[in-house]
Amino acid sequence: MSSFTTRILNVRPESIAFNSDNNLPIISDQETKDNLDIAANELTTTNNAIGFPTETVYGLAGSALSDESVRSIYRAKNRPADNPLIVHISSIDQLKRKLLPSDYEIPEIYKPLIEKFWPGPLTILLPIHPNSPISSLVTANQDTFAVRMPSHPVARALIAISDTPIAAPSANASTRPSPTLAQHVYNDLQGRIPLILDGGACDVGVESSVVDGLVDPPMLLRPGGVSVEEIKQFGGEKWKNIVLAKKTAGKLEAVRTPGMKYRHYSPNAKVVLFTNCKDGINEIDQYLKKNDIGPQNKKIALLKSRHFASQPQIEIERDLGSSGSDISRNLFRLLREVDELNVDLILVEGIDESDEGLAVMNRLSKAALEIVDGNVTNGVIA
Ligand code: TXA
Ligand code: MG
Repeated sequence: MSSFTTRILNVRPESIAFNSDNNLPIISDQETKDNLDIAANELTTTNNAIGFPTETVYGLAGSALSDESVRSIYRAKNRPADNPLIVHISSIDQLKRKLLPSDYEIPEIYKPLIEKFWPGPLTILLPIHPNSPISSLVTANQDTFAVRMPSHPVARALIAISDTPIAAPSANASTRPSPTLAQHVYNDLQGRIPLILDGGACDVGVESSVVDGLVDPPMLLRPGGVSVEEIKQFGGEKWKNIVLAKKTAGKLEAVRTPGMKYRHYSPNAKVVLFTNCKDGINEIDQYLKKNDIGPQNKKIALLKSRHFASQPQIEIERDLGSSGSDISRNLFRLLREVDELNVDLILVEGIDESDEGLAVMNRLSKAALEIVDGNVTNGVIA
């Protein structure tokens, strides 16, 4: 593949404003305007993928209408091509104009969700129509496509200026934790993409929620920035029956063979997730003793949140925060941060799966090679 000198271009989200649904953004800062033009030009005149910020995580953008652009995305990330991508649009007008047949009506079931959560971290599935312009590489040949309208001003401006629906997975190298800073994208994809728009830290910190309203009852395919509780509250009657796809929950994955799993969100260090462990003192102590681990033979980091106490034998400690939104926002950043200190082991405090907890535990249970459940006799399950 071609090699690039990856440039990081600064953009200021606060300098971008949207007037109404259909309009181009108004940009008060000249550098931001120039850099958005450079990025939009890259999207419309080349097949290269580029890094850009969204409110959830950084994405890796290419035109959703071009096979070659979508190939560049899969190639830069080293992502298996059977995992479909989300299409990002800047307005409902653009969705209709560029992607849907003129006589097509968005299904009623989605209307309250779109009204409440767009722009924002919610992705919906729509049917692919016979003459759809969307690259079949985006959908991995499924008969549906996933679409969302991001709320990050830089993401929306980029899509509006290029007037191109953008396919974008998270901009990490495949299997790595998702990126929430431009620097994370650079660390993973340096030399593999020509540019990254740097719009600062992502606010949500985990990816969008993916829902399928085309099946009855509707289904949550991936928990994310909009919680199940919010979907039930604002979605109307039908969404009160939303079913969680099996893989969405953290605890369902607790029993498994170490090393046999599909790696995802993984730092280089081994992640051990502790659930139902109160202040964690006993379980961590037992775990370290049982495995003959200590500061003398391993470098260990602890990520704690609501209940864990500081552990005297662990030197590196970071606080994820205590609110669900803080824990979501800090999760990937702190996994990457302690990993860069070359630790051998990252011990993480789990949280309960309500509200933001479902998305957090979904990511953590995929990152973890081992889970210690304080409710199970003698601790170690996996
Ligand atoms: O927040 C996000 O959604 C981020 C930012 C960059 O927007 N993007 C993201 O994309 O997380 P990605 O490619 O990492 O995740 C796409 C998810 C996958 O779980 C994929 O299986 C699912 O959406 N997906 C995409 N198209 C689908 C389809 N047609 N049917 C079912 N699932 C689909
Ligand atoms: Mg991803």
